[in-house]
Amino acid sequence: MSNAINKSSAAGARPSILRQMCAVRPIDPVDAAEKSRLKQVLGPWALTAIGLGATIGTGIFVLTGQVAANQTGPAITLALLIAAFGSMLAALCYSEFAAFLPVPGSAYRYTYTTLGEGLAWFIGWNLLLEYAISASTVAVSWSAYVVSLLNDWHIHLPDALVNAPLGVDAQDHLIRTGALVNLPAVLIVAICTVVLYIGVSQSARANTFMVTLKVAIIAIVVIAGLKYVDTGNFHPYIPPNAGTFGHFGWTGVLQGAGIIFFSYVGFDTASTMALEARNPQRDVPLGILGALAISAILYVAMSTVLTGMVNYQHLNVAAPVAVALDAHPQLAWLGWPLKVGIICGMTSVILTSLLGQPRILLSMADDGLLPASMSRCHPRFKTPHVSTVITGVGAAAIAAVFPLDVLADLVSIGILLAFAVVCLGVLVLRRTRPDVHRPFRVPWAPVTCIVGTLVCLGLTLTLSNGTWWRLLVWTILGMSIYAFYGFRHSRLRQ
Ligand code: ALA
Repeated sequence: MSNAINKSSAAGARPSILRQMCAVRPIDPVDAAEKSRLKQVLGPWALTAIGLGATIGTGIFVLTGQVAANQTGPAITLALLIAAFGSMLAALCYSEFAAFLPVPGSAYRYTYTTLGEGLAWFIGWNLLLEYAISASTVAVSWSAYVVSLLNDWHIHLPDALVNAPLGVDAQDHLIRTGALVNLPAVLIVAICTVVLYIGVSQSARANTFMVTLKVAIIAIVVIAGLKYVDTGNFHPYIPPNAGTFGHFGWTGVLQGAGIIFFSYVGFDTASTMALEARNPQRDVPLGILGALAISAILYVAMSTVLTGMVNYQHLNVAAPVAVALDAHPQLAWLGWPLKVGIICGMTSVILTSLLGQPRILLSMADDGLLPASMSRCHPRFKTPHVSTVITGVGAAAIAAVFPLDVLADLVSIGILLAFAVVCLGVLVLRRTRPDVHRPFRVPWAPVTCIVGTLVCLGLTLTLSNGTWWRLLVWTILGMSIYAFYGFRHSRLRQ
């Protein structure tokens, strides 16, 4: 328990609420009992594949085109590089933590050991955005691709059952669309939840297959599309600002980087699997950094080819990759295999995001911040089955009613804040616990950590006011749960 609390208790006085919220969890080594609840089956490739599985999806297959059309023009590549820079600094900080603290709670637990319980809850709550809500987001675009593929095959589902009942108007306010429910999105979340309930090795195998397929699809589009790139489409590289913040020009590039940050969400998923890794000290950092490097290279290549094949103004659609291919009839052969590959790719994002979330909940429940039932593991399947089901039901409910852009921006802002706190956490722990053995150290600290914090915070400032308001509602909801449950049941305080 934190020194602050101990001193106050010794004096007989009750520590202030703020001081209690700053209580820091000790860095306990993982004990055998904790390990035996889960299976240690994952090596470096499986961990990298889990990171890639959670990362490559809606961002590159949908948002890249939309951001190019609305914010950046061909400079989408620059926006992707800025977002990759912020992600890389955060990835280095994650790796330092993950190597000496291989626990499933990821950034939540790192914050608990450095900046205290209140902030740890805030980060754990925001990680819900990264995993459960990002699974919902990708399920929404999965549904759009499936409906489009079925339409190609002349199978038409009723509009009211395949669209979100909520949308946003030009002023960024939520409105009713007239649809009832996004049923395919609910269905895919339910299927992934069942697979995850049964076992992590099965899930990892299914994920590795789907990751291979989506990487192959990107490679094929890049190689086949290269021949059809018209360099005239790259001029002007940064279209002049259209008069408002974020609408082209440099502010467009910065806002584009904030929105497209969503594409990198998930690279850190390997950190939640540390307790299931065979050699977490070495393999988890490899998984995190490997997944980020591979996805950044694929994204820049894919977005260059995309904006070279067609003018960026044509890419504001649900399936920009298909539009780029349709513009060149010689590539018609890629049509439906591409959609199948993209659907598989998105499935792996949903699967791996739903894989990470229950492990965060498990860690928070172990600490008493959530009900103990959420940390129970299945005796036969060795999976956190209760939190897996809760995550699945929550993610399906969100996917049933919300539209893509509202969810994606909320995920981006939540994760940027979490990444900023992780970068800060490395700095704090280097000062408070210089004695801890760190198998991986962030190079050029503290500069790396300070720049990482500033870049992540800076990108949050580029996002729309509506996104900030929704984050505020989300935070108030989370803090209320903490006030009424977590704060009272915290094991650290008891
Ligand atoms: N980064 C993930 C995606 O783009 C969430 O789908």
